[in-house]
Amino acid sequence: MIFSGVGDFEKYSIAAPLPSAMVESFRAFGYDIGTAIADLIDNSISAGAKNVWLSFHWDGNNSHVSIRDDGHGMTESQLISAMRLGSQSPLEQRESHDLGRFGLGLKTASFSQCRRLTVASRSKNHEVATSRWDLDYLTQVNEWRLLRSPADGSEQKLNDLANMFQGTIVLWEYLDRFVGNARTDDQKAQNDFLETVEVVENHLAMVFHRFLEKRDRLKLWINNRLIKPWNPFLLDAQATQILPSEPLTFNGETVKVQPYVLPHHSKIDQESYNRAAGVNGWNAQQGFYVYRNERLLVAGDWLSLGYQKDEHCKLARIQVDLPNSMDSEWNIDIKKSRARPPVILKADLKRIARLTRHRATEIYRHRGKVLARENTEDHVFMWDKKIMRGKVFYSINKEHPLVQEVFNIPNNYQPMIRALLRLLEETVPVQQIWLDSSVEPEKQAQAFDEIPSEQVMEVMIEIYRALRKANLTQEQARDRILTMEPFQRFENLVQNLSEELIRGKNHDSL
Ligand SMILES: Nc1ncnc2c1ncn2[C@@H]1O[C@H](COP(=O)(O)OP(=O)(O)O)[C@@H](O)[C@H]1O
Ligand SMILES: [Mg+2]
Repeated sequence: MIFSGVGDFEKYSIAAPLPSAMVESFRAFGYDIGTAIADLIDNSISAGAKNVWLSFHWDGNNSHVSIRDDGHGMTESQLISAMRLGSQSPLEQRESHDLGRFGLGLKTASFSQCRRLTVASRSKNHEVATSRWDLDYLTQVNEWRLLRSPADGSEQKLNDLANMFQGTIVLWEYLDRFVGNARTDDQKAQNDFLETVEVVENHLAMVFHRFLEKRDRLKLWINNRLIKPWNPFLLDAQATQILPSEPLTFNGETVKVQPYVLPHHSKIDQESYNRAAGVNGWNAQQGFYVYRNERLLVAGDWLSLGYQKDEHCKLARIQVDLPNSMDSEWNIDIKKSRARPPVILKADLKRIARLTRHRATEIYRHRGKVLARENTEDHVFMWDKKIMRGKVFYSINKEHPLVQEVFNIPNNYQPMIRALLRLLEETVPVQQIWLDSSVEPEKQAQAFDEIPSEQVMEVMIEIYRALRKANLTQEQARDRILTMEPFQRFENLVQNLSEELIRGKNHDSL
């Protein structure tokens, strides 16, 4: 091959990277334990595994983690090349279902968490092959010496493979990053270890949810417990809004974008609401969910399109599906936890984001009643939002029939009533309400939440009376009340409103 700019007879030296120096860099890619394990599971999935068994075994500084799968495994020579750092060029075309890219994940993910990586693998009709990177040894000899057997005393940790006709076990020992030198009886360290197991479980439930949702596709086990998928879009909740999906085409490839607005918390039960928040909480989990071959790369991010994670947009979640042939355009990083859209798609993504955020804000503010509110002119609300001199404030709707009726009191009482209403308007505890509802939204009562119907009736009767005085018929008065918040929710009670009921109350006659 002829290389431009290099003559055939130029002198050269070999300046290969020093293993002892490189190893520490390979450890510093910034994986956390969840992303590291997800990278290994990618390999299992690419190898056609139907089951992946994770085992976290506590034993102080001898603790170990293993990831075993029933995929097609590797022969000895395949295993050796898989253990090589940079086993395949990122520029090579991959099969469409392949979740790998840089030929590094197995090694860099493992080194980020442990100092000893042993891989045993068996492909159909072959013996079990074993390889081991031992970072302490490697640093000491300063050569890329791949060891060919398990460490003394570690053989039984690979035993499970003996009963399988194909599959792979990845074993991590010397977990210096998340166990360190802890003693076996160190209770706090053990608790941290168990907590880590939970963090990993939640992360995997999210990253691989589309694999776990389909029957017979993939089962993920963690310490013998089956991991349940976590779907960010609450698809089984009726109230989730599915906005129109859009295919965006770029370089002959198609990216599918599907926006969702999740339900207001009043529309789903508490448990579903809490679970839907996700590992990082409602606010952090808004934005785009970028999937590559159905594997989640980015779980809630506005992708540097100029949007913040605002509390009032937290119900917006947008699914984006990429094929693995767009990796370089989307700047997929080695850890597979970042993706950046190509410039050419930014305007479209921004438009979709804006629309979805807008919808989500409406749902967030108006408890899902927004559509009725927009589509009909004659809804009656108690509060108006006003902007004066650039500042927002909330005023009581003086057109509300009950307010109008109150102003029919004798003139000399009027200043008192007006003063009271004004004071209420001036002291709406906006900050407090905002704080309370963002910290514990589920604890915000709805209007007349769990209030006996007689009390709801008391208020309603006064409005009914006011409407009748304003010459509406009984029928019209009842219909009108149904357009007022919050009585849409009390349709049955509204139907009970009648002259008899009012006469029964000790009040001026109509
Ligand atoms: N669990 C596994 N089963 C079968 N083959 C595997 C497994 N893990 C890794 N490999 C092989 O090792 C190679 C290198 O893996 P890795 O370092 O993660 O890079 P990449 O996934 O980007 O190719 C893979 O391409 C695959 O051929
Ligand atoms: Mg990989």
